[in-house]
Amino acid sequence: MGRIAGIKIKNYGSLRDVKLGKVLSDSDAKAKELTNINAIIGQSGTGKSTLADAFGFLADCLEKGVEVACDLNGRGGYETLISQGAEGSIEFELYYREAGNEAPITYELSIGLDKTGRPVVEKERLRQRRARERYGRPMSFLFLEYGRGFAFKGTDSGLSEDNQEVGEKVDVELADPRQLGIVTLGELREHPRIVKFKNFLKNWYLCYFSPMAAREIPSAGPQKYLNRLGNNVNNVAQYLYREDPKDFIKVLRDIQSKLPGINSIKPVKLQNGQLVLEFFEEGFSKPFYSQKMSDGTLKLFAYYLLLHEKDARPLVFIEEPENGLYHQYLADLASQMKSSIKGMYSKQLFITTHSPFFVNALSPDEVWVLEKQQDGFSTIKRASEYEHVKALCESEVPLGDLWYSSYFG
Ligand SMILES: Nc1ncnc2c1ncn2[C@@H]1O[C@H](COP(=O)(O)OP(=O)(O)O)[C@@H](O)[C@H]1O
Ligand SMILES: [Mg+2]
Repeated sequence: MGRIAGIKIKNYGSLRDVKLGKVLSDSDAKAKELTNINAIIGQSGTGKSTLADAFGFLADCLEKGVEVACDLNGRGGYETLISQGAEGSIEFELYYREAGNEAPITYELSIGLDKTGRPVVEKERLRQRRARERYGRPMSFLFLEYGRGFAFKGTDSGLSEDNQEVGEKVDVELADPRQLGIVTLGELREHPRIVKFKNFLKNWYLCYFSPMAAREIPSAGPQKYLNRLGNNVNNVAQYLYREDPKDFIKVLRDIQSKLPGINSIKPVKLQNGQLVLEFFEEGFSKPFYSQKMSDGTLKLFAYYLLLHEKDARPLVFIEEPENGLYHQYLADLASQMKSSIKGMYSKQLFITTHSPFFVNALSPDEVWVLEKQQDGFSTIKRASEYEHVKALCESEVPLGDLWYSSYFG
């Protein structure tokens, strides 16, 4: 599993140079790590969607390679994507912990253009401190430039900053410098740290629920996880039902208690093996199928199903859950999201939002404020860094109310 303690992004659209949480290259030694739930707020055009997309971009780079990733999801190619007037490449730095007792890993990635103008991985590096050292500089155990470099096998190995080699080093040359090295090396058992990191990144979930898409008649077949658009709720329901019918009925009971106007939800197995959900609405004796449910009900249902997934994905990014939802439901959704996090390294949530009701459930360290500066680029600040906000929250004024009253943001 694992979670990120921090992320630094350079030259990605309006995010010319932003950092959330703590990273290795930090000049600020006191920087606090990211929490398990992180909401991102800010006026329109301040870069919330860009931030969500930066996470999606990293996931796409892993899955599809950097050239394809630059074109996916309406990104419009490298030249459109990179910050206007940027000097240098698109760069990411992730500070990641697999578990509390393991030294954090730093992943650096920079993406530029090759001589023919095609996007390419300029540099990719993984670093970690030695297991017994609490301080000290980390050693590189993967280092590639334009697809060539080295990796160190096993754990607790690498190249120190003064060029001391610890453990077994192997030379690496990738066939395609547009693919990430962690994809290839993350398949090899002799590189357990790379395997874990790749799997962590591979399991990120970027969620763009679309009630329209959720109304399409799905194909049959159980699926473990909700997809990006959330149009496979029935398939996920089928999976959960197959794994443990009794538990799934409990899950449905829990969800139905949170959907306003819904008395019960029943799973019905069709002859072709497909599972459909019947929603019994107050005032009606016959059930409705998901195709007929309101946008808001479908969306809430999908969010609550997401919170009940088996083997939750380690990092989930949700864009503006409030769209299509009645404002009062947001407070409950936020507190359910918080309580779905069962341990430090089980799940980390990122949510962009405009809803003070959502923010009311959070503390000042869990909220990040994006602002657009005069030069057109975004800056980001933790709500706890604003004067008075922390003190007022401690005296029990809800954070969303402070935001609504323009104390910050
Ligand atoms: N390549 C770029 N360089 C700098 N700014 C950009 C670039 N591409 C888009 N932008 C700016 O990024 C801003 C952020 O938009 P967006 O992330 O959609 O904001 P939000 O989701 O907060 O409403 C837009 O105002 C746009 O002008
Ligand atoms: Mg947006």
